[in-house]
Order: sequence, then structure tokens, then C-alpha cells
Amino acid sequence: MSTYKERGVIFPVDIVPRPNLDLVKNFDIRDDDIIMITYPKTGTWWTHQIVKQILASEGVKDEKYLGDFPNLIEFSIPGKGPLAKLFKTAPSPRVLATHVPVEFLPSGLLGSKAKIVVVMRNPKDTAVSTYHFWQKVPEVKTPESWESFLEQFLAGDCPWGPFYDHALGYWKLKDSHNILFLKYEDMKKDLPAEVKKLATFLGRPLSEEAVQAVVGATQFDSMKKNVGDKHGLWTRKGVIGDWKNSFSDEQSRAFDDQYRERLSNTGLEFEFE
Ligand code: A3P
Repeated sequence: MSTYKERGVIFPVDIVPRPNLDLVKNFDIRDDDIIMITYPKTGTWWTHQIVKQILASEGVKDEKYLGDFPNLIEFSIPGKGPLAKLFKTAPSPRVLATHVPVEFLPSGLLGSKAKIVVVMRNPKDTAVSTYHFWQKVPEVKTPESWESFLEQFLAGDCPWGPFYDHALGYWKLKDSHNILFLKYEDMKKDLPAEVKKLATFLGRPLSEEAVQAVVGATQFDSMKKNVGDKHGLWTRKGVIGDWKNSFSDEQSRAFDDQYRERLSNTGLEFEFE
């Protein structure tokens, strides 16, 4: 993987060419934008589908720019160029996404009326999901082994920056009125409740029937079957606790030490099963 560092954060050059970071900084936000912010592999595509389904139940048509790819504003994709340019002329309401750490956000976003949805996932499952993802994507270097990958993850040597810096950067904004924090584990355990919460936050409360329709379309099995993902990039196992199939006891202890060190007294915590 060819990468570069910008303010200490690693970006893959083929996916996020350096000029894209300026395009993102200067990206014009509209008050009716909805933007999902995630660390990679924490439920971006899932949340994206839920938001689209919530809008669809109000008759808002899905846009078809990218097909089976989340609307990640910092990305360039072959044949489309920088997505930040593409989305400039997209009709409202735009459903956008990004993985960038907080300091790279569009400068007008946090002071705007746009709805910001931050999704987080426990770092052990995030690490395992990332490990499998890197094996499928040619733009990132295939890890030599799980062991070496985990060392890299623990060292924070990952595209879009270290997990904890990313999470805590956003967690500081937890009292902002236009940011909703969701957790992957809560969505797994009670999807209807999280769909309701999200729809209400978006100013589009749903009837019980509409909630059930969104849940039906976005639970793992239906997404795997119905939502385009021909490369299997966004829908792999979709469970909580898959980390247990990869972590040794020793690796788990080392991970827990870092977890405690970074998150104790922050009020941010995750469920691991
Ligand atoms: P796993 O690799 O652990 O299976 P992202 O979209 O941010 O890349 O996140 C991908 C992760 O979300 C993958 O995790 C994927 O399987 C999971 N995922 C996608 N859709 C899901 C759904 N409907 N329910 C639960 N998990 C889902």
C-alpha cells in the first residue's frame, strides 16, 4: 500500500490522494445534509443503508451515484474521480459519509445544521474486520499475519489514524446537539430501537410499521442478500465477538490494557460480546 502522512494520520494515496483532503476541508455543507462518520469497518455501509431506508419510507429517492459503495467524501474512485467533487451537485438531502478524524472534517460542518451520525464499534471486532478487509482490497497491503497486523493496529499504525485517537476526537463532541452517537453493538442487540432513535434524530420519526420495514431491509441477512455488495467488502460476518476467533489470550490481555489506558475516565466504553 502506498501511503502518506498528513498531520500524523496515514492515508492510502490511491484511495485518498492528498488533494482530496483540501477538497474535504472546503466541502460546502448544506443544512439538510446527513453525514455518517465512522472509523473504517465499524458499520459504515450498514448505517448508510438504514439512513437511506428511513429516507425512502418518506418517499425520498435513493441516489444512484455509486451503487454498492458508501458516499465517502474523501475518496476517489476509478471512473468517478474525487467524490467530494461529484457530491457538490448532488440533490438534497445528501447522504454522505467519511472516515476522516475530526481535525480533517469540512470546516463548515460542526457549526452547521447538518445532521451528524457518529458510529462506533468495539475495537477488537473492528481490528478483526479490518484484518479481513485488507486481505480483499488491493489498494492496502495484505497483512503478513494476524500477529503482525495486530501489532500494527495496537501501535496505531493504520489508515485514518489510530482507533482511540479517532474515537476520542469525536467523543469530545458528545454534547453537541446535531451529533448522534450510535454503537454497532447496540444496533446488533436492538435494531428497532436504534432505527427509531436515528429516525427521530433525523427529524423523520417512523411509525411502528415503517420501523419494521427498515429493520427487515437492513438486518444482516437481508443486506447480504439484497443490497449490492458484489465484492463482499461491506458484509462479512456481521456479529459481535468475532474477535474471539482470532485473539489469543495474551493478545487479548495486551489489547485490554491499552483499552483501559486510553478509555478509562472518558465515559466511552464498548461491549465485546
Ligand atoms: P465484519 O467484518 O465483522 O463482519 P464498514 O461498512 O464500516 O466497512 O463495516 C463493515 C462491517 O460491518 C463488517 O463487519 C460487516 O459484516 C458489518 N455489517 C455490514 N452490514 C451489517 C448488518 N446489516 N448487520 C451487522 N453487521 C453488518
